[in-house]
Amino acid sequence: MLERPAISNHTSRNGSPLRPPYSGTGSFKPNSASLGDDVHPIINEGRVAVITGAASGIGHAAALELAKLKLKIAIADIDERKLEQVGKQVAAIVGEANVLVVPTDVSKIDQVVSFKDKVYEQWGEVAVLMNNAGIGLKGGSSWEGLNAWKTIFDVNLFGILNVQQTFVPSMIHQENQGMIINTGSKQGITNPPGNPAYNASKAAVKSLTESLAHELRQRPDPNVTAHLFIPGWTHTGMTSTSSGSAKPPGAWSAEETVLYMLDKVRAGDFYILVPDNETRKELDELRIMWSAGDIVERRPALSRWERGYKALFEEYVRDGMAGVQGRD
Ligand SMILES: NC(=O)c1ccc[n+]([C@@H]2O[C@H](COP(=O)([O-])OP(=O)(O)OC[C@H]3O[C@@H](n4cnc5c(N)ncnc54)[C@H](O)[C@@H]3O)[C@@H](O)[C@H]2O)c1
Repeated sequence: MLERPAISNHTSRNGSPLRPPYSGTGSFKPNSASLGDDVHPIINEGRVAVITGAASGIGHAAALELAKLKLKIAIADIDERKLEQVGKQVAAIVGEANVLVVPTDVSKIDQVVSFKDKVYEQWGEVAVLMNNAGIGLKGGSSWEGLNAWKTIFDVNLFGILNVQQTFVPSMIHQENQGMIINTGSKQGITNPPGNPAYNASKAAVKSLTESLAHELRQRPDPNVTAHLFIPGWTHTGMTSTSSGSAKPPGAWSAEETVLYMLDKVRAGDFYILVPDNETRKELDELRIMWSAGDIVERRPALSRWERGYKALFEEYVRDGMAGVQGRD
């Protein structure tokens, strides 16, 4: 049963900072080499990693990190020029024979099928499928901008679904174990005002990936696992104001986010909720609990941003974080 956010006794309307004082999570710095110290059946030398949206940001960092762990790397992206450059960087780590560069628009099923055929023709298997391509395009409000909504859903939801439906039927018939990592977003869980189309697309990815994980577990021989990767604020092409801009102190680098993700998938986690230098894990958890609490407490939708509930939410967070900070 869902634990109720402890708000019933709260009557104080005293304001408190939305983000309680916090000295930072500290960056996550496992050495990527150490991730490969013990033999993992999937993230392992000689196995195959497929990464979409690999020309930039998180996908780019994932291609480099998995190459350092000596996997063969197949990368796809709609941006052909940048993808070629990433292909060269990956080849410098694993050698040209171990890189496959396939310009692909994930929203186009025929291109995804052709990408998959190339990977299986070349290497005959997939161990890690990182279903990561996404766009942060600003959609309209909830009652406007239908075209932008469709564009966002075509990439962020149907792109993920195209890749999943094309690769998973082959992966489940492989002898070796595999994993599929779909990239969601905290915005798909807590639904902050601002970009409803992006939020809705990522909420759908969460739902889709939960169903996928369950369905895979029901198979008599569950050799493929699914994971929902929920990055924190990561300095990438999507979040930068201009190309080459410096990383804001609150954000993690793409490398940090990827190393954290790899650490958690290796541990078998399904929900990989990644912190950043501004939002620690416990604060994310409180926000998620508050959001679920809107339903059970019969509060208005998105009460966290509603004038009448703002102070209560802030107090809920302050109380929740007090114990945590005591442990620091
Ligand atoms: N950066 C963050 O703070 C953050 C937070 C939460 C979730 N995410 C998610 O992480 C994923 C990676 O984003 P990023 O931050 O690295 O952004 P990014 O813009 O740096 O990288 C996204 C890549 O996807 C590619 N892409 C876009 N449309 C495509 C298509 N139709 N087919 C193939 N490739 C396509 C882009 O060309 C780009 O190279 C996205 O799904 C994004 O929604 C990012």
